[in-house]
Amino acid sequence: MPKVFITRQIPDQGIKMLKDKKYSVSVYPKDEIIPRAALLKGVKGVDALLPILTDHIDAEVLEAAGAQLKIIANYAIGTDNIDLQACQKRKILVTNAPGPEIVQSVAEHTFALMLALAHRIVEADKFTRAGKYRGWGPQILLGTDVYGKTLGIVGLGRIGFAVADRAVKGFGMQIIYHDKERDLKFERDFSAYGGSASGGEKQYGARFVDLSTLLKQADFVSLHVPFLPSTRHLISTRELALMKPTAFLINTARGPIVDEKALLQALEKKQIAGAALDVFECEPSIDCDISDHLELKSFDNVILTPHTASATVETRQAMSATAAQNIIAALEGETPSNLVK
Ligand code: GLV
Repeated sequence: MPKVFITRQIPDQGIKMLKDKKYSVSVYPKDEIIPRAALLKGVKGVDALLPILTDHIDAEVLEAAGAQLKIIANYAIGTDNIDLQACQKRKILVTNAPGPEIVQSVAEHTFALMLALAHRIVEADKFTRAGKYRGWGPQILLGTDVYGKTLGIVGLGRIGFAVADRAVKGFGMQIIYHDKERDLKFERDFSAYGGSASGGEKQYGARFVDLSTLLKQADFVSLHVPFLPSTRHLISTRELALMKPTAFLINTARGPIVDEKALLQALEKKQIAGAALDVFECEPSIDCDISDHLELKSFDNVILTPHTASATVETRQAMSATAAQNIIAALEGETPSNLVK
């Protein structure tokens, strides 16, 4: 009977699928990030491992598991927590969980952050709860409109596209984007990605630009690239200095893509209007130990969410089922749908 180890309690759909296959499924019982020692113990002798994005799956973990380990089915889109080379060396399959649900959830969260920044929702909530609202005033908590503004998308994958789709259809925004390569299909035929059927360059105005131009022109900069050695600190001092003082930065991708120390300094100097972060450079810590007096949480124009962009009931169930499907395929000798190369 194949053995599966899950490093944290996840929604039940996938667990049920694995149990229906009569696999022996064990789940780390505490609702906490699994300690390293428990991870090394838990993986021993398993055929499949289902980790979450906070678990570092490296050669030591693979060694502790043993030669029978066939698949690591990550409960995330990102796989930066897994040493892919070490897995490849041992011919262990690695999959992620990139179903359509997570793409929409992250795009929605990105928009929620964009709207909350522009309309100062978190500040307004605090203000109201603090009993500071003493009657309507023409100048209370003035924000900025999103409608018709320019959105700069850094990384036009499926999530970047889903954000663009909302921006164009819902908010009449102009889209500029940057990625490794220009995507002519996106520019010419937006509908190919599920956008409005009558889409096209004229209607959507999506333009490919270099990163510097994007940063100079965008009113909102939204990051959707994976975390790779090449994207570490993609947004640092120079890049933040290029942004307009009225522009906002949104990061729902991975923390280290933004140099947080540089961001704190840019906020302090009012080089940008604000930022919304769902991910942090030294996660789970909100601030890295940068021996500085600046802290993200001290800025009213910063919104922080605890890596919850995909945290909806629908998405987390779907991710559970996707991870299980990947495991079942691998253990049955088939190629899982979400292989990561
Ligand atoms: C979340 O950050 C994910 O990669 O799924």
